[in-house]
Amino acid sequence: MKNLLDIYARKRRDISAIEKELEESVNNDHSLLRETSIHLLKAGGKRIRPVFVLLSGEFGHYELQTMKNVAVPLELIHMASLVHDDVIDDANTRRGQLTVRSKWDNRIAMFTGDYIFARALGVITQIPDPRIHQIMSKAIVEMSIGEMEQIRFFFHSEQTIRDYLLRIRRKTALLIAISCQLGAMASGAPDWLSTKLYNFGYNVGMAFQIRDDILDLTGTEKQIGKPPGSDVKQGNITLPVILTLQDPALKPMILTELDRIHKLDGQTDISRFLEMIRGSAGIKEADRLSQVYIDKAISSLDTLPDIQAKKDLIEIAHFIGNRSY
Ligand code: IPE
Ligand code: IPE
Ligand code: MG
Ligand code: MG
Repeated sequence: MKNLLDIYARKRRDISAIEKELEESVNNDHSLLRETSIHLLKAGGKRIRPVFVLLSGEFGHYELQTMKNVAVPLELIHMASLVHDDVIDDANTRRGQLTVRSKWDNRIAMFTGDYIFARALGVITQIPDPRIHQIMSKAIVEMSIGEMEQIRFFFHSEQTIRDYLLRIRRKTALLIAISCQLGAMASGAPDWLSTKLYNFGYNVGMAFQIRDDILDLTGTEKQIGKPPGSDVKQGNITLPVILTLQDPALKPMILTELDRIHKLDGQTDISRFLEMIRGSAGIKEADRLSQVYIDKAISSLDTLPDIQAKKDLIEIAHFIGNRSY
């Protein structure tokens, strides 16, 4: 399997152009806003949403300026949601660096997020098509609902797989879906094509979050850029845990651990909990479901023209299905 850098190689120049534009877009006379945003930007990230815009744009009339005007706001929306997410999660590290909330404080992180959202809005107005504005606005609304639902379900051990899937659809999959859709739409590709790409992005996005949730339980701090088990400390019960709870032999022990973690507000050793989940079938089953989404994503591309971008999208889908960072 290729790694991300190999897949990105063909688009390296356009990705650097986006990187430059991201930096310019958050520049501000206010030194603190500039500092917090640049701190966030420099921590890096996979830039997977911009890459999906670029590759999807190749199905229409590819024009770099237009692609930048779509890719930059999408990455900014993603970044803003992460600064806010780290406040909700009390996270101290992300991408191996201090989070804005931990380097500065929660209030500063909230305004940094607002500021970055506002910048996203500024860039997207350069695209005149109001359909694109509506699609973006709707995705941000859904993302907010997803994050609210996550809080509502904290420590709810009776939640269903359906509750979980609905939540990750909102908080993660839809933004990835529209990254693909809007790349195609902005480059004037026909609607049937942007719809197929939307389906691709949606399914890849579901797999992406399932992998993220598996990695939170099985990864090392070096791999995932933050301490493992952050989700459960926080009360976020993810797919591998929901699946493990379905095993009547393990359920009582898991419930006892969850209860203990809840009572101590996450300020406790969770190694026993992690051991139990890692040793259960929940991880494998979650992994299997993420593969189902990857297969669905790839078959959404069946009727698309066989251009290089299609091959790259398939490679990225395989990467996401197996990703360890
Ligand atoms: C992290 O997204 C949040 C999720 C939706 C799982 P990414 O894994 O794309 O974050 P970066 O941008 O690469 O750090
Ligand atoms: C993604 O979920 C957050 C958003 C979609 C805003 P996570 O909470 O799993 O992301 P990480 O693990 O903190 O990166
Ligand atoms: Mg988080
Ligand atoms: Mg996570």
